[in-house]
Amino acid sequence: MISLSSSPFQLIFCLMVLLILPFSSRSADPDALQDFCVADFNSSISVNGFSCKPAEQVVSDDFFFDGLRKEGNTSNVFGATVTPANVFTFPGLNTMGLSTNRVDFGPGGLNPPHSHPRASESGIVIAGKLLVGFITSDNVFHSKVLSPGEMFVIPKGLVHFQLNVGEGKALAFTSFNSHFPGVVIASTNLFGSTPSIPNSVLTKAFQVGDDVINGIRSKFDS
Ligand code: GLV
Ligand code: MN
Repeated sequence: MISLSSSPFQLIFCLMVLLILPFSSRSADPDALQDFCVADFNSSISVNGFSCKPAEQVVSDDFFFDGLRKEGNTSNVFGATVTPANVFTFPGLNTMGLSTNRVDFGPGGLNPPHSHPRASESGIVIAGKLLVGFITSDNVFHSKVLSPGEMFVIPKGLVHFQLNVGEGKALAFTSFNSHFPGVVIASTNLFGSTPSIPNSVLTKAFQVGDDVINGIRSKFDS
């Protein structure tokens, strides 16, 4: 029990706990303090988000986005593509603490192992069959094959993927509790960074020789 007679050390300790608690218990973007704040990309000021467009300049179209109507082009090495509706493509999401992706998969397409540093993810399969998986921080692998109408959730920050295991194309929509969840694609992050991570780090981390690292690096070097 802390009282006025407590030692200075106890008081300082409690003060520190009180200061740290609100940050450690935050699970997503901070709550907005106004109804809306359409991002003003022209403003040079940015405080953990974007400045708000002046309210008198906000129009209905600021709250609508049709960028997820079109099928994404899946002609790439992974055979899948993500079309984001986040604060950058849909400024009306600024400070709302949410965003959505459209994810298109060609036959056999893979949304490669990646994580979102700032958000948990939920997703609904709209068409096709997807193997959805994630790995916990204890290295436990959870996965399931999902059909249209079925839903999944990926805990914040964990590595996950979706693989099209159906006959034709597949489609999913994913949602995040952040207006900009961020994405870290494991392979490009480690093997396509600028500047490159030294081979001595990667050979030791993966317990392989330079030839293997150089081989993988050649696929992701930008
Ligand atoms: C799927 O994992 C996505 O990030 O949209
Ligand atoms: Mn994801």
